[in-house]
Amino acid sequence: MKLITVALVYLLLAGMWTRDVDSRSMHVSSSNCCYQFADKRIALKTIQCYKNTSSTCPYDAFILKLKKGRESCVLKTVRWVQDNFSKMKPCLPKTV
Ligand SMILES: *[C@@H]1O[C@H](CO)[C@@H](O)[C@H](O)[C@H]1NC(C)=O
Ligand SMILES: *[C@@H]1O[C@H](CO)[C@@H](O)[C@H](O)[C@H]1NC(C)=O
Repeated sequence: MKLITVALVYLLLAGMWTRDVDSRSMHVSSSNCCYQFADKRIALKTIQCYKNTSSTCPYDAFILKLKKGRESCVLKTVRWVQDNFSKMKPCLPKTV
């Protein structure tokens, strides 16, 4: 009897924990979707590489990895991004 109670409590806590982690990661751009976009051009030399957002995202965008570990999002449809896309490098899966 006691063991079952302990197991139930443990499961409950585990469930709360994973839900907490999920809800927090939604606010981070590393969830692979973008909801806010840079309104200015980003100098190409500060862009280290780009990542595609996942196809399930509401916006079709790139995540740009910048120097100093920052990240920024740009829409794929933006002119300067399209014009300069060939100069950007994809992020290697390992560094993502
Ligand atoms: C991107 O391409 C456009 C058009 O070729 C150019 O005017 C612009 O300076 C380039 N660089 C950036 C960072 O937008
Ligand atoms: C990312 O998006 C670009 C432009 O839409 C496309 O050319 C490229 O194949 C995509 N890469 C991946 C890994 O989906």
